[in-house]
Amino acid sequence: MAIQSPYKKEHTMYKQLLKLIQSKKSKVCVLGLGYVGLPIAVEFAKKGFFVYGFDTKRSRIEKLQKGISYIDDISNKHIKAVIGKFHPTHDVKVLSEADVIIICVPTPLRINKAPDMSFILKATCSVADHLRPGQLIILESTTYPGTTRDIMLPVFKRKGLVPEKDFFLAFSPERIDPGNKKCHFTKIPKIAGGTGVFSGKLAVVLYSKVIDKVVQVSSAESAEMVKLLENTFRNVNIGLVNEFAMLCDKLNIDIWEVIEAAKTKPFGFMPFYPGPGIGGHCLPCDPLYLSWKAKKIGFKTSMINLASKINFLMPGYVIERAKRILHKRKSGLKGARVLVLGVTYKRDIKDLRESPALNVIEILQNEKAKISYSDPLIPYLDINGINLKSTEINQANLKKQDLIILITDHTKFKYSFIAKHSRLIFDTRNAFFTHNVKSANIVKL
Ligand SMILES: NC(=O)c1ccc[n+]([C@@H]2O[C@H](COP(=O)([O-])OP(=O)(O)OC[C@H]3O[C@@H](n4cnc5c(N)ncnc54)[C@H](O)[C@@H]3O)[C@@H](O)[C@H]2O)c1
Repeated sequence: MAIQSPYKKEHTMYKQLLKLIQSKKSKVCVLGLGYVGLPIAVEFAKKGFFVYGFDTKRSRIEKLQKGISYIDDISNKHIKAVIGKFHPTHDVKVLSEADVIIICVPTPLRINKAPDMSFILKATCSVADHLRPGQLIILESTTYPGTTRDIMLPVFKRKGLVPEKDFFLAFSPERIDPGNKKCHFTKIPKIAGGTGVFSGKLAVVLYSKVIDKVVQVSSAESAEMVKLLENTFRNVNIGLVNEFAMLCDKLNIDIWEVIEAAKTKPFGFMPFYPGPGIGGHCLPCDPLYLSWKAKKIGFKTSMINLASKINFLMPGYVIERAKRILHKRKSGLKGARVLVLGVTYKRDIKDLRESPALNVIEILQNEKAKISYSDPLIPYLDINGINLKSTEINQANLKKQDLIILITDHTKFKYSFIAKHSRLIFDTRNAFFTHNVKSANIVKL
């Protein structure tokens, strides 16, 4: 008796695409070449795939076409190494040529803190306009559970094509950690879940070609939720430790010493650190995507909202502490010369999105302090009504400050030099101690 194929006739597209992906002959298009999209596009090209990089920002495409990168973790050398395999373009027609489309567009918050889905919607419409049988579409942008199936799938279906037969749709969250030199994203296990069995399987096979380990979950919704659990976990724990920091200050206990001691426990504890607030495109936004979705279905999230609230209050707390520190020296913030050290949201990354330093500077402006800042990665600040040039760190510039507030602990800062020539430092990251610099003029958060 002839052996029956496990695939029915209608699974021809699946089989064809699977073969293309397995042999790396599938053309991949990464839509949105930012912090997430560009490294992925470069990696697929590096591993031998033909890759289109599609972005609506012309200036980015022009740079890439000249072999110039604009992302910290990708050097010009990386771009030049994949010439011939990686094709950056703003020509939307490539969307119909690609067999696989990976969407990596922003998912910010609107002013009312509700999800701003406009980027996902616009990208979905562009893909739908060029949809053809035999394509796999994967969303990587962080979003609330249900986005892939409830928002994207209906747009594609309207084109008359049948999901799981004509085309495939999956979600795979990005877990990249910008600036982390120790953990390249190909070493971070990748999660993938489809809107159907075939979509999930195709996504797993695709990522297995570039990522060491791929973990399949049963649905796109589970994959969406994985990312939100991870980021909400961090948000809640940072909120908790920020609350501990404020309490420790009242009790005159060193929170940093407490964390160091607590983390010697070999189980049941994981260290998180207090700071001036959370920033970037993920931590401040993602938990709010989840609480928005929860509210839609009549579920009230408490922990998530509380942690977000505490974290959002931290820049204000930093200023309150700065006032107290100055008060002890018989002065106040009004008219005081204050230098903010580090303005990006994260160490060694030139990304200002949602950076708490911006809130700190805004409050300092309202308090009528004489503000300057220094950041080796940001020569000018022209944002949120702040217009400043980065100050050079030298003896004279340090000496004239009444207070230095360290917000972002860049590796490039010369900590002992700064401590030696400054009158008073408020360190919100415990950075001086970490760099073995101890001095009576340093006050820790
Ligand atoms: N940055 C991170 O560390 C990080 C980590 C994990 C997940 N994420 C998530 O990944 C997603 C992307 O974040 P990012 O930091 O890479 O954003 P980004 O702003 O750095 O890059 C997004 C890119 O998409 C382009 N774009 C927007 N709309 C487009 C469209 N319709 N067609 C083509 N291009 C379009 C933009 O021009 C930009 O270049 C977000 O959902 C974010 O939450 C980010």
